[in-house]
Amino acid sequence: MSQIDTLVQSLPKAELHLHIEGTLEPELAIKFARRNGIPLNVGPEELRRAYDFKNLQDFLNVYYRATDTLRTRDDFYELTMHYFRRARENNIVHAEIFYDPQAHMRRGVKFEVFTEALLEAMRDARGEYGISSNLILSFLRDLPEEDALKVLDEATAFLNDIVGVGLDSAEVGNPPSKFSRAFSMAKDLGLMRVAHAGEEGPPEYVWEAIEVLDVHRIDHGVRSVEDDSLMHFLAERRIPLTMCPLSNLKLKVVNDLRDYPLREFLDRGIIATVNSDDPAYFGGYLNENFLAVQRALNLGPEDICTLASNSILASFIPGDRKRELLGKIDEICGSAPDS
Ligand code: HPA
Ligand code: ZN
Repeated sequence: MSQIDTLVQSLPKAELHLHIEGTLEPELAIKFARRNGIPLNVGPEELRRAYDFKNLQDFLNVYYRATDTLRTRDDFYELTMHYFRRARENNIVHAEIFYDPQAHMRRGVKFEVFTEALLEAMRDARGEYGISSNLILSFLRDLPEEDALKVLDEATAFLNDIVGVGLDSAEVGNPPSKFSRAFSMAKDLGLMRVAHAGEEGPPEYVWEAIEVLDVHRIDHGVRSVEDDSLMHFLAERRIPLTMCPLSNLKLKVVNDLRDYPLREFLDRGIIATVNSDDPAYFGGYLNENFLAVQRALNLGPEDICTLASNSILASFIPGDRKRELLGKIDEICGSAPDS
């Protein structure tokens, strides 16, 4: 392992943009399909070969089809523990996990079945691996706001267990303002707010997420680079971006990681972070995302240390644990060799 690989591996990190359904590896999907009596009739390699996406929608079609294999509490528990084992290998000490209740409820799986399974796995990961985590309920933006309001209503029984709400799925044509009531209600319930914006959608969607939905973070936000005043605003208001390099490459948000605007964001003082999004589909978990972007942009140890610190800063971890983790990063980074 090179020195920079070792640094990436050894730093404690938070993962803030991770869809639990996007951690469904083909082998697990096949196992769940078999035990739930769902015909799939393909092998893992064949499934993997189909992971060649033209754009976000192309990916979402495959992603929602695979989630159909998740039916029981055991499926959701096993899926989530599988992620936590990968998280431990990647030295992730804290994860903020998105889940898509509407994708499961429309298949007849009950809200409390998958929510309780995820929460149980999160408690076990804390106990067994020392990994803390938060759950973020994501609304599917291609469905009507009424549906989001119904899910939020179901979630009120779990307010102590859900840290916030998010917004994902097909972006273009579904601007953040479509969900103004749902986000305002979430805010009244004391929930944190994040939204995917500026992945395929224009910088105006990032502005809307900030101004209309009052979000704490922007997920992706890549296209913010097209709007200088937005870049300035993100830095000044310290609104973090949860970026996902391998996802953006696979979904052709960028054609080459050498053109990825991460360095611009860091140079402008924006709290940019690196995350894996849907690692089972995009070719790598967290450290592989760090290494891909490190190589493409020739990032040095200082940049890697900034990204690790940003992941803690941008998280919803309580202040004292944040300080402890930032201290650990400083300790490692203080003794890291310069580039
Ligand atoms: N973008 C939008 N919706 C999603 C994604 C994504 O990258 N992953 C899972 N749902
Ligand atoms: Zn995402």
